[in-house]
Amino acid sequence: MIAIQGATFIYPGATVPALENLNLAIEPGEFLAITGPNGSGKSTLARLLNGLLRPLEGRVLVDGMDTSDDTALITIRRRVGMVFQDPDNQLVAATVAEDVAFGLENLGLPPAEIRKRVDLALKSVGLENLAARPPHLLSGGQKQRLALAGVLAMEPRYLVLDEATAMLDPVAREEILEQVLRLRREQGIAVILITHLMEEAIRADRMLIMKFGRIFWQGSPREISHQERLLAAAGLRLPAVIALAKSLRQGGIKLATNPVCVEELARALWKLASRE
Ligand SMILES: Nc1ncnc2c1ncn2[C@@H]1O[C@H](COP(=O)(O)OP(=O)(O)O)[C@@H](O)[C@H]1O
Ligand SMILES: [Mg+2]
Repeated sequence: MIAIQGATFIYPGATVPALENLNLAIEPGEFLAITGPNGSGKSTLARLLNGLLRPLEGRVLVDGMDTSDDTALITIRRRVGMVFQDPDNQLVAATVAEDVAFGLENLGLPPAEIRKRVDLALKSVGLENLAARPPHLLSGGQKQRLALAGVLAMEPRYLVLDEATAMLDPVAREEILEQVLRLRREQGIAVILITHLMEEAIRADRMLIMKFGRIFWQGSPREISHQERLLAAAGLRLPAVIALAKSLRQGGIKLATNPVCVEELARALWKLASRE
């Protein structure tokens, strides 16, 4: 579990905290989405999760290890993998395979183990055929998958994606998200998806909305249809599918479920139509 307890963070020179008295528990294997307007503290929160930043007050515990404990930091960084918006800042080596191996070599793992993990990580993101290619020749989506492979090779328990797909086209974005969710299913890796896209956030099991460095709302994405006013106060809007389901309901169409994606809405409508 990752436990954030009363964490406050203020950037040097800033007058208001980027995060204020934040309390949050993230369970192993869970799929949590963190959303909220620009500047609400999402990236700061992400950086607290693996000790890239440390709270000024309060503490952050990763499986019981305090991120302010220097001797635990290496283990914490292995447990909590991070992928950021701009993959170019995360890619370091001359070839795709070497890039994935880089972090593992720093761990001092034996070469055979490194090779095994590199192969597996590249396969799990679908880059196994590009192992010898220089990273700068990859497309944006491929670069982002490479950054993901580098993190996966470290065998993290928690995977934090901070707007990791924001620069990609919708197809590449969906591909990466699908890959990540498959890894969660197969390996039980917790996924912390940080996104300003509500459409993406509602796919999670639990959703958290940040505003002014605080948790503004949290709950199940299925409850969000009742939160339109609250969302508006955070500068957010209901995702299209949920807004549509809501107005269908207001128009007297009795949907049996609370759909959060196109497929669910289609199924609910299909059920109604086939009953008539
Ligand atoms: N490196 C930094 N130095 C000073 N202030 C920062 C820095 N990074 C972020 N901030 C400020 O901290 C607040 C939270 O930012 P951030 O965590 O990046 O939000 P988000 O990811 O939700 O857009 C904002 O007010 C932002 O301007
Ligand atoms: Mg951010």
